Amino acid sequence: MSCQSQPSLLHKYMGIFFSTMSSEELLGSLDSFDAREDDIFLVSYPKSGTHWLAEVIERIPDAGITLTSPIELGDISKFEELKRIPKRRAIPTHLNYEMLPVTVKQKQCKIIYIVRNPKDTAVSMFHYYRDNPNLPSTETWAAFLELFLKGDVVYGSWFDHVLSWEEHKNDKNVLFIFYEEMKKDFVKSLKKITAFLGIDVNDSEMAKIARSTSFSEMKSNAAKENCDPNHVICALTSDRNLVFRKGVVGDWINYFTPKQNRVFDELFTEKMRNSDVGRCLKEYAHSQNA
Ligand code: A3P
Repeated sequence: MSCQSQPSLLHKYMGIFFSTMSSEELLGSLDSFDAREDDIFLVSYPKSGTHWLAEVIERIPDAGITLTSPIELGDISKFEELKRIPKRRAIPTHLNYEMLPVTVKQKQCKIIYIVRNPKDTAVSMFHYYRDNPNLPSTETWAAFLELFLKGDVVYGSWFDHVLSWEEHKNDKNVLFIFYEEMKKDFVKSLKKITAFLGIDVNDSEMAKIARSTSFSEMKSNAAKENCDPNHVICALTSDRNLVFRKGVVGDWINYFTPKQNRVFDELFTEKMRNSDVGRCLKEYAHSQNA
């Protein structure tokens, strides 16, 4: 069954598929959200490492930060819920740049954008479509990949999402983090994050954060936890057991046929021809293969 034939799970807003758990009214009212200057936004295209980044932020000691559920999850009462949080808020979202509330842009809130190789993202999302009851089912990898390449998946085209954010990559309130770099040198990425947030973390605390946010640790914690509606990071599920699948770089190789890989590369080259993020992702992919 294709996405379009299960309209109760997804709806289109401004040409992009969203979960019906994001109400149209909320999506249409995002600009009335009252951002605070010290808000932190954790932004990603789905399946790029959102939960990992959120866990890292939560584990920074004495930061005085409260992780909230995604800004686009729920109905219009969301803004009241966020207002009641007294501490500094870290707010996850999968919104593209255009849809980000205007007050977040005006107040130059800090924004961390995590990006991941789109081939691994597509494979991860394929499994999410299959396993997550909040997403339409998908019959085959080939059928899913077609939808992914057309941008006919939840949150739209990976390319459009990344490019909308890349325009702001060098803004002083924006930090780009690569999933592949977090995997290769976690402490390097963590140092970038803490420096960006202006929080001092010593070496032993860094090592502790690295241990507690490792894939195996997070996966086994998810298995022990019950679904906690107050600990929802992605607007597509509150079941953390659906999130921790393999947690590796390069799993795409087990799914793409040579032809699919060629088609993907052609589109990547066309869409990302002027993109520094695209160049970085290609370098990570080459160093992985080397
Ligand atoms: P896979 O499906 O490839 O395993 P998101 O949090 O944006 O939904 O992304 C989920 C992806 O990030 C999944 O990828 C998941 O396994 C991976 N992931 C989650 N926590 C991770 C961690 N601590 N280390 C590495 N990968 C992690």
